[in-house]
Amino acid sequence: MSELSVNHLLGIKYLNESDIQLIFETADHFKEVINRPIKKVPSLRDITIANLFFENSTRTKLSFELAEKRLSADVINFSAAQSSVKKGETLIDTVNNILSMKVDMVVMRHPNPGAGVFLSKNVKASIVNAGDGAHEHPTQALLDSYSIREKLGDVNGKNIVIVGDILHSRVALSNIFALKLQGANVKVCGPKTLIPKFITSLGVEVETNLKKALEWCDVANMLRVQNERMDISYFPSTREYTQQFGVNKALLDSLDKEIVIMHPGPINRGVEITSDVADSKQAIILNQVENGVAIRMAVIYLLASKIKQ
Ligand code: CP
Repeated sequence: MSELSVNHLLGIKYLNESDIQLIFETADHFKEVINRPIKKVPSLRDITIANLFFENSTRTKLSFELAEKRLSADVINFSAAQSSVKKGETLIDTVNNILSMKVDMVVMRHPNPGAGVFLSKNVKASIVNAGDGAHEHPTQALLDSYSIREKLGDVNGKNIVIVGDILHSRVALSNIFALKLQGANVKVCGPKTLIPKFITSLGVEVETNLKKALEWCDVANMLRVQNERMDISYFPSTREYTQQFGVNKALLDSLDKEIVIMHPGPINRGVEITSDVADSKQAIILNQVENGVAIRMAVIYLLASKIKQ
């Protein structure tokens, strides 16, 4: 297979296993490109991409912009805080105004779950979801799986635990879809109040004892507690959360094997993960960020190939 089964990247749940393998093989090529002295290819000189960020971002926004520029696409950036959205313009009107400037692809982060799907049904452009509320963050899950594949050789058959605030996490949901598609065994671990009841219907197990979860896994993906999406308290205090669900070096050293530590960022050092773990050789957090550029180049390149047909 040499093309994606989809015209948009709205979520991992719309992809199949062959799509993921195609994205990884294409990312392998682009990873080699971005490690050359000249890190750029002319592939998308005829494509214009708008990055629409209605919610804060550091990694995803910069990573998409760099990926687009390394493919030689024309790039425009839009930040909701400085836009006419503040004057009451609708999402569809905003995007159609941008598209009338001959834009081919829209990369969008939005606080509302399903915003990307909504846009794909109402405007004529290829849409890439850069995170929609607590729903999906597909390129994060792709770069996470790609980083596991790079570190451990394969995702299939590996034991992966996702730790923390599963309830509010688009990273958790997209990772679960991606990991299950590739044949990984997945557990989630965190306070019961931060684990949605539907989660087991996705084929994952719940483990509320962090030490047991770490003893079982090959990889622990540590998530941030998303206080900005909470209107009530889900646990008594940050200190108690850290005591039960934070990973520190002493805990890792007490295991009888060395596990891989991941984190999508931004990190709350000293809450879900201590600095000595975040900066240790076991952590592949900065490899994840590096791989994000190659993965996003692959996604944009493969979607643009479909626009050109
Ligand atoms: N991992 C992630 O989505 O980070 P940002 O919010 O900084 O983009």
